[in-house]
Amino acid sequence: MRQQEWSPGSWRERPVEQQPDWPDEAALDRALKQLSGLPPLVFAGEARQLTDALAAVQGGRAFLLQAGDCAESFHEFSADQIRDKLKVILQMAVVLTYGSGVPTVKLGRIAGQFAKPRSADTERIGGVDLPSFRGHIVNDDAPDLASRTPDPERLVAAYHQAASTLNLLRAFTKGGFADLGQVHTWNQEFVSTSNEGQRYDAIAAEIERAMRFMRACGIDLEREARLHQVDFWTSHEALLLGYEEALTRRDSLTGDWYDCSAHLLWIGERTRQPDGAHLEFLSGVANPVACKLGPTVTPDEAVEICETLNPNRIPGRLTLITRMGAEKVADVLPSVVGAVEATGHPVAWVCDPMHGNTFVSPSGRKTRHLDHVLNEIQAFFAVHRSLGTWPGGVHVELTGDDVTECLGGAEEIFEDQLQNNYTTACDPRLNARQSLDLAFRVAELLRA
Ligand code: PEP
Ligand code: CO
Repeated sequence: MRQQEWSPGSWRERPVEQQPDWPDEAALDRALKQLSGLPPLVFAGEARQLTDALAAVQGGRAFLLQAGDCAESFHEFSADQIRDKLKVILQMAVVLTYGSGVPTVKLGRIAGQFAKPRSADTERIGGVDLPSFRGHIVNDDAPDLASRTPDPERLVAAYHQAASTLNLLRAFTKGGFADLGQVHTWNQEFVSTSNEGQRYDAIAAEIERAMRFMRACGIDLEREARLHQVDFWTSHEALLLGYEEALTRRDSLTGDWYDCSAHLLWIGERTRQPDGAHLEFLSGVANPVACKLGPTVTPDEAVEICETLNPNRIPGRLTLITRMGAEKVADVLPSVVGAVEATGHPVAWVCDPMHGNTFVSPSGRKTRHLDHVLNEIQAFFAVHRSLGTWPGGVHVELTGDDVTECLGGAEEIFEDQLQNNYTTACDPRLNARQSLDLAFRVAELLRA
């Protein structure tokens, strides 16, 4: 990171995209001041551990699974939903690790993934122009002016929801729920009856058999902490820089600045301007960071992002998440990866197969087809295989719920079923079955 002329507020000197039009500056200042006095959500030492884990991804010794909601919701916030999301991520990690023999780094888009960038500031509903919905950390999605007016108190509410989500995740992952002995119980009922659910059950049975075998050999499995707990990290798009600044603290051990709102922060496709505020802000925090790269990125821009975000070339510090659209990967990705690799920059390459493959269905719903999602992953693997670089991970939007938001899958969801259970606060998510399906496909690609 670059900490000389940098300060947590130095982004304010740069042009900044995608910030809400807060109507009451004094109320915003009060909310940010309150946040800056609240405890950090994560610790610097944890962020450093994630950097180490991502260094293994960068070096081809591990695979990253980054997954969760497009936008967390203030309305859909319960222990069951957090648990079910964790279940599907743990299941996918088992499929990936068991199927490929490569360790899986588990990183949630969770406990802070609230703010959304928008392509337009306003949207026309029923003949009226309303401010766009920017995520529950900013405004409410209901289509009336009062709901859509940005309210700074939501920044504080989002912090508390993130804290409470993270608390439950820590309890689940360290307190027995994620114990490998529980591998069968992560299969939810609506999943276990499906094809991919049964494939998962078969793996779970083999894992249990292997554990019985080791126990019979006299190995004390109780003492092996790695079988009973998992490391689960949090991440979100660092979009609202006032919020991120307020949670940025100096680490007493190293003197470095850390954004303590999550372990990893990323810059979205719409805010990666070379001289913009978002790159400036993340250049100075010592967390591991990521940047999305869409189909318009040039090789030079990608290299410049590496220079800005990781001038000291620290392995694990920088992940580049490419989201080109299935059709464009073969054209755009090789020169981008080639240019970055030629500089020697250590980058973990990750594929977001969701955001380049969104379209509006004839019935007017935003959706994605699992076939296009899988095609992008396959094309991503093909490019990295041909360049000799490591396809380091996938970044997906999913939920543990039985939603009907994305088309396709082994138990196919068709266009006329989208309306059955379409609940996302923003982009369409894979349901638990489609997510498992994807994990099996990725494990096959990793084995190949
Ligand atoms: C997102 O991750 O939800 C998102 C908006 O992605 P992108 O910045 O890649 O469009
Ligand atoms: Co999204």
